[in-house]
Amino acid sequence: MIGSDIPVICLDGPAGVGKGTICLAVAGKLGWHILDSGSLYRITALQVSRQFSNIDVDSISKSQLFDIAVNLSVSYVEEDKELVIYLDDEKITQLIRTEEMGEKASKVAAIPVVREALLERQRAFLQAPGLVADGRDMGTVVFPDAQLKIYLTASAEERAHRRYKQLKEKGVSVNMASLVEELRLRDDRDMNRPTAPLKPASDAIVIDTTSIDIEQVTSEVMGWVEKRI
Ligand code: C5P
Repeated sequence: MIGSDIPVICLDGPAGVGKGTICLAVAGKLGWHILDSGSLYRITALQVSRQFSNIDVDSISKSQLFDIAVNLSVSYVEEDKELVIYLDDEKITQLIRTEEMGEKASKVAAIPVVREALLERQRAFLQAPGLVADGRDMGTVVFPDAQLKIYLTASAEERAHRRYKQLKEKGVSVNMASLVEELRLRDDRDMNRPTAPLKPASDAIVIDTTSIDIEQVTSEVMGWVEKRI
């Protein structure tokens, strides 16, 4: 965090680029904490959709949205080597992982008061010995002083293909063409919003992962960790 000596690695980039997997691999090698910032936007979207069915987020007052986001009662608990997310006493780990919730998350994430409400909560994840933070604005807004900022990219087709494989393995049937379309729409919204748009920080290292696998990306990131931290 601003003024903190605890090291942070930021992993930003578009949907489906593999940030979550790389984040876990790098944090596992270093024995550091992780921040999956997207989960906070997904949980906010879940709460909003429960409190306002058929939401059009634009029709909900800013103060109501702020209150929902700032008051989320979330906990991240390791159970049987899996990270389980609780909203109050309810396990919501799988519930927030759907494409539909990703889409809703990107709508609430475009609202400045929601981002403001989640800012300090994200910074509170910074604890010794270090943090690997995954998201869209980790390097630009949340941890601007981070020692290492990585921005991962890959073509929309490759990202959709990876997501397709992941979903198929889980037994979810999906259509490849609509997956590409959904990713494009979400990226477009994330890149073009006025507040904290998805973009590489000016001091970020950009890695195009279109034709390299997870192990190669992880070892490239670890190479940068050795140089910088
Ligand atoms: O990373 P994930 O796909 O879970 O994020 C869901 C949505 O939350 C993104 O499409 C984006 O709109 C939003 N998000 C964000 N800033 C972050 C992380 C996620 O705006 N740091």
